[in-house]
Amino acid sequence: MVPSRRILVTLALVAAPWPPQVLASSTDSYDYIIVGAGTCGLLLANRLSQDANYTVAIIDPGADERDNPNVVDPLGWLGLTGTSVYWNYSSIPQEKLGGRVLEYDAGRGIGGTSLINGMTYIRGDKAQFDAWEQLGNPGWNWTTMLKHFKKIEQFFPPLPWQETAGALYEDEYHGTSGEMHVGFNPALLSGSFYGDVKASWAALGQTLNRDASSGDTAGFDVWPQTLDPVKNVRWDAATAFYWPVQDRPNLALLNGTVSRILWKNDEADVPEASGVEYLTPDGNIKTVNARREVILSAGALRTPLILELSGIGNPSILNGLGIETVVNSPGVGENLIDQSNVALTYSTKESFPGYAPYATFVNATSLFGDGVEALAASTKKSLPIWAQQIAAQTNGVISARAIEHRLQVQHDLIFKKGVTIAEILSSASGTTAISAYWDTLPFSRGSVHLSSANDINTPAINPRFLSVDFDLAVQVAVGRLATKFWTTAPISAVIEARVDPNSTILPDNATDAQWEDFTRSSLISNSHSLGTAAMMKREWGGVVDSQMRVYGTGNVRVVDASVLPMQVSGHLTATLYAVAERAGEMIVGDRSGL
Ligand SMILES: Cc1cc2nc3c(=O)[nH]c(=O)nc-3n(C[C@H](O)[C@H](O)[C@H](O)COP(=O)(O)OP(=O)(O)OC[C@H]3O[C@@H](n4cnc5c(N)ncnc54)[C@H](O)[C@@H]3O)c2cc1C
Ligand SMILES: *[C@@H]1O[C@H](CO)[C@@H](O)[C@H](O)[C@H]1NC(C)=O
Ligand SMILES: *[C@@H]1O[C@H](CO)[C@@H](O)[C@H](O)[C@H]1NC(C)=O
Ligand SMILES: *[C@@H]1O[C@H](CO)[C@@H](O)[C@H](O)[C@H]1NC(C)=O
Ligand SMILES: *[C@@H]1O[C@H](CO)[C@@H](O)[C@H](O)[C@H]1NC(C)=O
Ligand SMILES: *[C@@H]1O[C@H](CO)[C@@H](O)[C@H](O)[C@H]1NC(C)=O
Ligand SMILES: *[C@@H]1O[C@H](CO)[C@@H](O)[C@H](O)[C@H]1NC(C)=O
Ligand SMILES: *[C@@H]1O[C@H](CO)[C@@H](O)[C@H](O)[C@H]1NC(C)=O
Repeated sequence: MVPSRRILVTLALVAAPWPPQVLASSTDSYDYIIVGAGTCGLLLANRLSQDANYTVAIIDPGADERDNPNVVDPLGWLGLTGTSVYWNYSSIPQEKLGGRVLEYDAGRGIGGTSLINGMTYIRGDKAQFDAWEQLGNPGWNWTTMLKHFKKIEQFFPPLPWQETAGALYEDEYHGTSGEMHVGFNPALLSGSFYGDVKASWAALGQTLNRDASSGDTAGFDVWPQTLDPVKNVRWDAATAFYWPVQDRPNLALLNGTVSRILWKNDEADVPEASGVEYLTPDGNIKTVNARREVILSAGALRTPLILELSGIGNPSILNGLGIETVVNSPGVGENLIDQSNVALTYSTKESFPGYAPYATFVNATSLFGDGVEALAASTKKSLPIWAQQIAAQTNGVISARAIEHRLQVQHDLIFKKGVTIAEILSSASGTTAISAYWDTLPFSRGSVHLSSANDINTPAINPRFLSVDFDLAVQVAVGRLATKFWTTAPISAVIEARVDPNSTILPDNATDAQWEDFTRSSLISNSHSLGTAAMMKREWGGVVDSQMRVYGTGNVRVVDASVLPMQVSGHLTATLYAVAERAGEMIVGDRSGL
């Protein structure tokens, strides 16, 4: 039931309204409605409104945050935690974490999560993008993505003093004329710390990687950020893609929270959206019509809720909420993949004034050494069991075989393609040295669904952290490596003591059981949720096709972190901007029937 070419062709034949001014004054009809003025939504809005013959409305309840100093200042972002720029969600109690409830964050404001994130710009490993093609998405691979990565980027080469401080890059992988400014932090730490960190990682076999965005993340690197290093300001999605074009007469920003898609009452063989319903800040329910398409860009924790309230989802979940099923799509809200972040802090013998964005990405061989082949075999043997468990979480509406196929693709990435499976930050600030680390490719699969049919703002988030043993084994191995790093010369000389966890909670000679307890009691969300409306073959639980069109609908797409079918080693925004850029090309291409 892929949306038929016929419908899109028909849409393309409808004469575009002209001149656009008429529409600006007319009430409530646009060619495209984009739900969510976030990381992906604003890039897409920019592209779809480039041609003045097409009108675009973006709907979002957030505020203009251009004057928020902690948004603007590239060093201010931690000061935003818990403020009005945050949607403060929480998970449901986590079974494998002793029932702990975890905080889940997302950005609220024009710019979405790109307003509050850490700005880290790192892509992922080549093979991870090539795997998207194997999951049933022809044309999605590293080569295609690289074109888009470069197109949206304006890369600012490091200054000579920054190069000395470790800021390196390979020219061929970067763009020079896109809207997204990417560069190294002006407050980059200089001095001996960088050389010591580099040398200690080299002693552990993790040599310098000059550019972690080249399709190979392995080794130690200093990362650039989505910022303008000349102006020394954050470069979020709104700064790059929306504010410069906000005066386009064919582009509107509507203030409100979308609850659901409205459907045409016609005889089409697949349901077609007529528009959306949204709640205005003063509490009124309004509708707005979409002549061409509705595009959901509300983020991985919110888009599935809108799909469900619109009748697209697993019928047993929808029935339970009293929602009539319009499209049976059991993958909606499933396949939530997040990573589990654990932090270690140390006191140092000297003070480090500056920002130290240092990452080390490691593969399975680096983590497990000679044990890697045995681990590959035992993991492979476990795939059918894990697949059955994950299928059972969906009450069997997605088959274990389908899920096993997806896990097998991931197994190949880890054990055949040798992609990196963990990231370790090793940083310092003042007299504190910090490691934060996470498994980049966990096998656990969670879900996010509506908590109630009356509440579009409170997702029921269940990441199911550590529901697969492999994930805990990786976290323990990475934790051991991260602690070993700080005791390896020369960096060991600047460390006074480990502060958190202290030696009662985690002694130097801690057993695996102690490491596991520590991991379960301390891990938090890595804020990299994705996959909840996955771009994948429908029979494997996919929700959108390789054009990001929602299966079973005529004119609805999803363009946000929900569509990424699997994790990548990098941080998500680099990838999301490229995905949204490609979506823009596809949607514009459909206008002319190309
Ligand atoms: C604290 C934090 C730190 C991070 N650090 C980094 C980092 O350093 N580097 C990196 O690459 N990634 C980082 N990430 C991840 C990355 O920022 C996100 O994955 C990415 O921004 C998500 O983009 P998106 O387009 O999917 O959603 P968002 O950018 O979240 O956009 C969704 C938008 O939809 C709106 N919305 C939601 N529901 C509705 C509705 N019903 N109606 C209308 N509008 C709605 C929201 O208000 C929001 O504006 C971080 C994330 C967090 C939370
Ligand atoms: C917009 O439409 C008009 C009238 O149909 C046409 O002449 C013009 O070329 C179109 N503009 C673009 C950018 O396609
Ligand atoms: C949307 O409405 C809210 C609530 O009134 C307000 O705080 C916010 O600033 C508005 N957003 C914009 C972009 O005007
Ligand atoms: C989270 O947001 C809700 C609703 O805006 C608010 O009532 C609550 O106090 C907030 N919690 C925290 C911890 O900020
Ligand atoms: C990647 O996809 C493009 C189409 O977008 C295709 O031309 C190319 O051959 C593919 N490359 C690889 C290595 O598969
Ligand atoms: C794993 O990483 C190490 C260190 O970066 C590297 O030397 C090795 O070649 C990698 N192994 C594979 C299989 O890619
Ligand atoms: C270690 O931390 C725990 C919990 O924070 C505390 O109860 C304990 O007293 C601490 N031990 C030491 C040696 O400081
Ligand atoms: C770890 O070291 C402490 C102190 O020397 C000792 O009491 C304890 O038995 C050791 N634990 C293990 C598992 O070796």
